[in-house]
Amino acid sequence: MTPITTTRTRSREYFARAQQSLVEGVNSPSRGAAVYSPHPVVLERGDGSRVWDVDGNEYADFMMSFGALIHGHAHPRIVEVVSQTMAEGSHFAAATPAESEAAERFRRMVPSAEAVRFANTGSEATMLALRLARAHTGRTKLLKFEGHYHGWYDPYCLNGHSHPIEQIGTPENPAKIPDSEGIPAAVFDDVVLAPWNDVSALERVMREHGRELAAVITEPIMASMGCIPPRAGYLEKMSELAHHYGALFLLDEVVTGFRYAPGGCQQLYGLKPDLSTFGKALGAGFPIGAVAGPRGILDRMRWSDHMVLHYGTFNGHRLTLKVVAASLDLLSAEGTYQKLFAMGECAIAGLREVFRHRNIRALVQGFGPMFQIYFTERDAIDDYRDYCRYADTRKYSRFVHHLLDHGIYMTPSNGLHWIISTVHAEKDVEALIAAADQACAELA
Ligand SMILES: Cc1ncc(COP(=O)(O)O)c(C=O)c1O
Repeated sequence: MTPITTTRTRSREYFARAQQSLVEGVNSPSRGAAVYSPHPVVLERGDGSRVWDVDGNEYADFMMSFGALIHGHAHPRIVEVVSQTMAEGSHFAAATPAESEAAERFRRMVPSAEAVRFANTGSEATMLALRLARAHTGRTKLLKFEGHYHGWYDPYCLNGHSHPIEQIGTPENPAKIPDSEGIPAAVFDDVVLAPWNDVSALERVMREHGRELAAVITEPIMASMGCIPPRAGYLEKMSELAHHYGALFLLDEVVTGFRYAPGGCQQLYGLKPDLSTFGKALGAGFPIGAVAGPRGILDRMRWSDHMVLHYGTFNGHRLTLKVVAASLDLLSAEGTYQKLFAMGECAIAGLREVFRHRNIRALVQGFGPMFQIYFTERDAIDDYRDYCRYADTRKYSRFVHHLLDHGIYMTPSNGLHWIISTVHAEKDVEALIAAADQACAELA
């Protein structure tokens, strides 16, 4: 049976200390006491699929740095590349061979990438993509879907959190709810909000606003309310509608890129986005963002009086791009994605069986390397509105807190998702299934 983690005294002490100098003791609210009760598990070390907290407790990690650690912790090849590169200098903010080594590999894997521009985070990538789209189309407005997260740039920060269903308006007239204070209300005048996964709603919104839109931005698999796959044909229809009205189809693959296929969901679903954005798994644990697309759009960043400005001291960071190249080589090895999918399917099937046998109504949704558990009577959670109405997020949080006590590391936030990396093995999935069984017994 999975060992029970009993002592987190040092985690509690570290967290108390951290609160003296840091807001909420962390650097992003999702890591602190807003999500973990009574305090976060303070992590100190990682190796492969495992992490250890400051009290020495071991966990199988299924959060994997919100999906950034596609090869797990301290992968030997990544450690080797980092040590070699560091010894020669981490970054020059100058032209380097590392840039083309990473970019060439990137282009070989991502079908729509005639060219790529590297930034440092997914948020920077989506910020740049919108600027490019606006410059390219000469239009200002953006269509964003309810519940999708594209980083923390002002025009994306609305309806990214769940709210009681009575506050979110109707699908025909969704209420715009800012995710943050400090954003001028006028910013949202340029944002058209629509429900996701609904072709007729999209057709209606596009009829009304399509000709004013610079871009329609979407996650291919909605990953900010857990894991919500698109309905068959939905993304293809979205792309077609965007083009029909002269808007760019902007695919945000920050979560799905390099995870679902070498070329991300655009390869998996056969999509042809005008621009796509990447981050997370691309950096294998190092901060990265990227915008990819055709020359006709990316070349707008070329130096001129009319260029699209994108600067950054750390763009094309040498150490990071060396890691990117090494990581993409690892991902290109024969059988990598088959293994990721097989391991994910094994975890999904095992969890479904645990809930069935424990007689607990729970939905395990997703496929392959990414999935989420929803405590719900529903057979599917198809969009933001389903999530707000039907997902028992408190129960999920209690479930994950029990899992933490049984040696499984995961965030108790239902809006995130379970991640399978290339280093997860049968023993991790077995640990998860055994812990989930215990957690179900304790949930009652
Ligand atoms: C779909 C999507 N786009 C963009 C971002 C922003 O990426 P970052 O956190 O690297 O700024 C995220 C982050 O979770 C994301 O999930």
